[in-house]
Order: sequence, then structure tokens, then C-alpha cells
Amino acid sequence: MFKLLRSLLINWELHLQLINDTEDCSNLRQKEKRKSHSRTEIINFIASQRKSLNYLEIGVRSPEDNFNQIQVGSKTSVDPGHEYVPNPVTHQMTSDEFFNFWKETKMHVFDLIFIDGLHLAEQVARDIESALAMSSSDGVICLHDCNPPNEYFAREKYRANNPAKGSWNGTTYKAVWKYAFEGEFQLKIVDCDWGVGVIDKSKPKSPEQNQNPYFEWDRFQKIRTDAGFLVSFSEFQEWIQLKHKVER
Ligand SMILES: C[S@@+](CC[C@H](N)C(=O)[O-])C[C@H]1O[C@@H](n2cnc3c(N)ncnc32)[C@H](O)[C@@H]1O
Repeated sequence: MFKLLRSLLINWELHLQLINDTEDCSNLRQKEKRKSHSRTEIINFIASQRKSLNYLEIGVRSPEDNFNQIQVGSKTSVDPGHEYVPNPVTHQMTSDEFFNFWKETKMHVFDLIFIDGLHLAEQVARDIESALAMSSSDGVICLHDCNPPNEYFAREKYRANNPAKGSWNGTTYKAVWKYAFEGEFQLKIVDCDWGVGVIDKSKPKSPEQNQNPYFEWDRFQKIRTDAGFLVSFSEFQEWIQLKHKVER
């Protein structure tokens, strides 16, 4: 009898916790949606500043949401079509397949690349490396989902039945924050639209040694506001217009 009551109590507490967490996630989602600028505005701002000619988007889903709104003359799109059946992209394949194809053809050197495909740290790290290799010497690489509001949004596996529902930033943040410290070019994360990372190849920096290859959640939580990478839209505008400023 005592055991039964105890287990009912534990289940009840877990149920209450789940209700609280779901409400927290819903408030955080609303807060994120109220933030000032979108990924599209950030990418278009960079394109207008740099007079970009060749744009590449990795992970497109419905082109209406972003790709079609990007104002650059030549655009290339890559998506294997997991989430949107019509999948009207120029290359129906994964990013790894596309980057291998690119190595053989060297079709274009891209000035502006948006990485928004599979949101897993090791994949994103590979996408960053490939994007750096196929972009111009002053190219810019943007990444979506770099600043998850809590650990439910930053879960490893996409599953809709959890407090963050269908919102999934995945573990992109781990690869992006690793690059922010260890990479050879400066990176900023604009604090809107789930965190839009921007790597500017025209701004070299000295790579830092990092004991921990990927940032786990607790460490990320501790440093995310103080590390100097997270910026407002106006701070980002000022930074992207600076020329060859070596940081740190
Ligand atoms: C979050 S959606 C992209 C949203 C879009 N970029 C936007 O801004 O509206 C992620 C897309 O990545 C695609 N994807 C999944 N795995 C991929 C991979 N390995 N390489 C490239 N794209 C991938 C999915 O099919 C999905 O359409």
C-alpha cells in the first residue's frame, strides 16, 4: 500500500513538472518569436553590404520561408527532402553529398552560405568546414539555431512529444560555440530567430586552445552571455561593416 502511494506521488510530481516545463517552453518560444529580426533580414543585410553574387542554402524545406526572399543574383539550394515533399531545390541531396559533388565540379565559389540542414553537432561542424573551403576569401557563413533557450530545444534527437513540442534547435550550438573559440575567423551570434551565427572570413582571429572538444549544455549556459559572441542586431550591423579587425 505504502509503495503504491509512493509511486502515485512520484508520478504526480513528474506530471506537474512536465506541465511546468511545457509552459516554460511555450513562454520561451513566444519570447523568441517577439525578437526583432529574422534570419532572412540578417542574410539580406549581409548580401547588401558585401554585394554578394553567389548564395548557397543548405537545408531549405519550403523555399517560401527564407530561400525565395534572399536577394542575391545566383542562388543554389541543397536538401534531401526529409521535411517537405515537393523539395524544389537545385540539388536534392544531403550536404555531405553536395560538398563531395562540389569538390569534383568546383561549380562556384560562394560568397554567402546559410547552413540550416541537419541540426547535429558533428554534422554542423562538417558543414562549417566544407563551407569555409568552398567560399570566397571574404565570404560569410551564416548558421541557424545557435542559441537554444533551454535544454528541451537543444535535445539531441528530434521528437515532437516533449515540452518544446516541434521546436528543435538540436545540438548545432555545440559546433558553433566550438568554432567561436577554436576557429580562425571571427564569429558572432545574433540574438534573434533562435540565434543566427555569422562567420566572417574577412576577419581573421587567433584560434584558442579548448580542452573540451564540444560544449556541453552546462558550460554553454555559464558562458553564453559573457563570452562576447552573442550580440544584438545593431551590434551585428556595426561588426559586419568593420574591415579586417583582428579580435582578442
Ligand atoms: C529547419 S529546415 C530548413 C529551414 C530553412 N532553411 C528556412 O530558413 O526556412 C531543415 C531542412 O534540412 C534538411 N536536411 C536534413 N538533413 C539534411 C542533410 N544531411 N543535409 C542537408 N539538408 C538536410 C531537411 O530536409 C529540412 O528541409
